[in-house]
Amino acid sequence: MKQYPEAFWNERYAQKEFVYGTQPNRFFKEQLDQLKAGNVLLPAEGEGRNAVYAASQDWDVVAFDISKSGKEKAMQLSATQNVSINYQVNGVLDFKTDIKFDVIGLCYTHFPIQIRKEAFQHLIKFLKPNGIVIFEAFAKAQFGKPSGGPKNEAMLFSIEEINDEFPELEFNILKEETIELAEGNYHRGTAEVIRFVGIKK
Ligand SMILES: C[S@@+](CC[C@H](N)C(=O)[O-])C[C@H]1O[C@@H](n2cnc3c(N)ncnc32)[C@H](O)[C@@H]1O
Repeated sequence: MKQYPEAFWNERYAQKEFVYGTQPNRFFKEQLDQLKAGNVLLPAEGEGRNAVYAASQDWDVVAFDISKSGKEKAMQLSATQNVSINYQVNGVLDFKTDIKFDVIGLCYTHFPIQIRKEAFQHLIKFLKPNGIVIFEAFAKAQFGKPSGGPKNEAMLFSIEEINDEFPELEFNILKEETIELAEGNYHRGTAEVIRFVGIKK
């Protein structure tokens, strides 16, 4: 059974507003800003806030999402910011490219639990050796809180699950923390998240 199928996301993104805002995720920006610009893959990129920011900082950006409404919003945002991004519409397991990336940015990539580990294993194949993954998503402790995230506890993350689902990475940062989210109407308020920066061994 699909949790949060593409129809759910198409409907969410059909509204005029950018539901997670137009500014990049704060942790993604902080970490990306410390790196020399190269190429970055942004899976499940939704309305394009991180893709557009990265492109504005001279990164070559490939993004994808299962939602075609997400792509439409992202293309709208990239046009207003006058930057160019390569954005494809496909499910994570169908994503293919010959490109290898310096960075993969995973922001709130709450894939269905049945495919989650397989999805992350699939994506890591597109990372260069010594490439970096920047990750932020809701922790299990977020379950039931009104500040955002899946209503299905299995789709939230624990540190143990991160270690299990990203065995190729050595973590420079891996922490669970309480933060204040102010990302559009759907990520707003005090939230429990997991953040990591990992390097492909
Ligand atoms: C919470 S949103 C995060 C969007 C974006 N990363 C951000 O931080 O603004 C989760 C995204 O995952 C996408 N998604 C869910 N399942 C997917 C799948 N199987 N393949 C690709 N994208 C998927 C949804 O369409 C949605 O845009």
